[in-house]
Amino acid sequence: MTILTIPTQPIDGQNPGTSGLRKKTRVFMGPHYLENFVQSVFDAIGGLAGKTLVLGGDGRYFNDRAVQVILRMAAASGAARVIVGQRGLLSTPAASHLIRDRQADGGLILSASHNPGGQDEDFGVKFNTSNGGPAPEDVTRRIHDATRSIADYRIMEAQDVDLTTAGTVKLDDMTVEVVDPVHDYALLMERLFDFDAIRRLLDGGFRLTFDAMHAVTGPYAKRILEGILGAPEGSVVNAVPLPDFGGGHPDPNPIWARDLVGRMMADDAPNFGAASDGDGDRNMIMGRGIWVSPSDSLAVLAANAHLAPAYADGLAGVARSMPTSRALDRVAAARNLPCYETPTGWKFFGNLLDDGRITLCGEESAGTGSDHVREKDGLWAVLLWLNVLAKTRQSVADLMQAHWTEFGRNYYSRHDYEAVDATAAARMLDELRGRLADLPGTIVAGRHIDSADEFAYHDPVDGSVAQGQGIRIVFDGGGRIVMRLSGTGTAGATLRVYLEDATDDPERLNLDPQEALADMIAAAQEIAGITRHTGRDQPDIRA
Ligand code: G6P
Ligand code: ZN
Repeated sequence: MTILTIPTQPIDGQNPGTSGLRKKTRVFMGPHYLENFVQSVFDAIGGLAGKTLVLGGDGRYFNDRAVQVILRMAAASGAARVIVGQRGLLSTPAASHLIRDRQADGGLILSASHNPGGQDEDFGVKFNTSNGGPAPEDVTRRIHDATRSIADYRIMEAQDVDLTTAGTVKLDDMTVEVVDPVHDYALLMERLFDFDAIRRLLDGGFRLTFDAMHAVTGPYAKRILEGILGAPEGSVVNAVPLPDFGGGHPDPNPIWARDLVGRMMADDAPNFGAASDGDGDRNMIMGRGIWVSPSDSLAVLAANAHLAPAYADGLAGVARSMPTSRALDRVAAARNLPCYETPTGWKFFGNLLDDGRITLCGEESAGTGSDHVREKDGLWAVLLWLNVLAKTRQSVADLMQAHWTEFGRNYYSRHDYEAVDATAAARMLDELRGRLADLPGTIVAGRHIDSADEFAYHDPVDGSVAQGQGIRIVFDGGGRIVMRLSGTGTAGATLRVYLEDATDDPERLNLDPQEALADMIAAAQEIAGITRHTGRDQPDIRA
């Protein structure tokens, strides 16, 4: 077959963000756009000659064609083998597992995560390294550099590879191994959890509902929850992945998963409800009449993980991203566990996991995971919850109540201001940055400020430093405000304001979070002047 060398020019803005390169689908479909980026990845990792790559995506619009382009480019670059999910599908955690299990040199995951899909929506490409995790910053920097000097890319002239059936085919000298996307992942889950206990729970009439949101976890949840664990058929809804996710945002939060919320708030609600996102790495957990915030979920799982076989010997340590609530820190303190605070972005957990310093970690953005892979993992979180519920035989609401009674409660909410003017948002944060030193010791909204700084992370494993990772203002009595700009959006800027306040008062464990956080909400306005700078008097989303 012929290898074509196509001349090209650098394209602006091919800079991987919090989680890979994310752009409008039409941008990715534009001339040379995908090809430039993929070639830059190959160049940044020293070429593909003789290497093994894992490849798959969340099934969104353009996934199928992008997979074929990448296969032809990998063959042209001399890759030995590409392990690709059947029909081009792989969830992010399943891809991470395959990279590790098969000792691949890395993987390309096609997804824009929880962003909507379609010709006029979003697409993304993410490179994961041989540990199975998102490329660390030095690698993404090299990729970005390569996109700025690219002069040509190589692609094999060939027809599409048939990805409909599992098996091995050749693309010139390269082996294309088409794998069932669920099989290996399901085996891993079976090793980690007490499937018998979960089966008994379900046999006893415990009802669950899982909303796959027409995204990639559909086939995984069907096979594992219904097939292997025996949940009745229909327990998994919206199980067929669609290129536009049925027109919705495949984002498991109370706004976008409102059908699930409605079902779980009804009188005859199932005992347990959950959802995952486009590429299967996020999770939302609900019980009858209760939504569990991601920060609380992380804390509860840290406190109870030992009930699952994989974590029976206890945890080496735990970690959370900086904006995630400090509910986890309370568990860590009580159980004598090292607890790390990292910047937003799963890649920052990689070194801690690789080094054996932590076993479990998570983020406020609905990501929870462990050292079983190097990505957050939606179904894993669901299965760990089910394992815990099967062992404790408590309802989700009772388990939360017991948790707050033992450890205290950290009320938490994130206010998002979407598509705000990027310059105005940057100016607001600049102004605030300039005043941080004056804040400690002052009283705002009746609360005393203890400290105020901009978070910088010193990686204890490789010594690297990540600056400018969000502004945090800490109050007496466990109050905290964090502000940063999202690194995953594709239009304008999204300002995220993370609000937290803590209580140990048994009489105050069941307030409405927005009410419990009234001081912090008022303080954030007063300190940063959100309305003055952005022209918005309300956030678009309170989660
Ligand atoms: C992705 C990343 C997460 C991150 C989240 C929010 O899901 O994998 O690690 O927490 O985006 O990022 P953002 O920059 O939008 O707040
Ligand atoms: Zn995701």
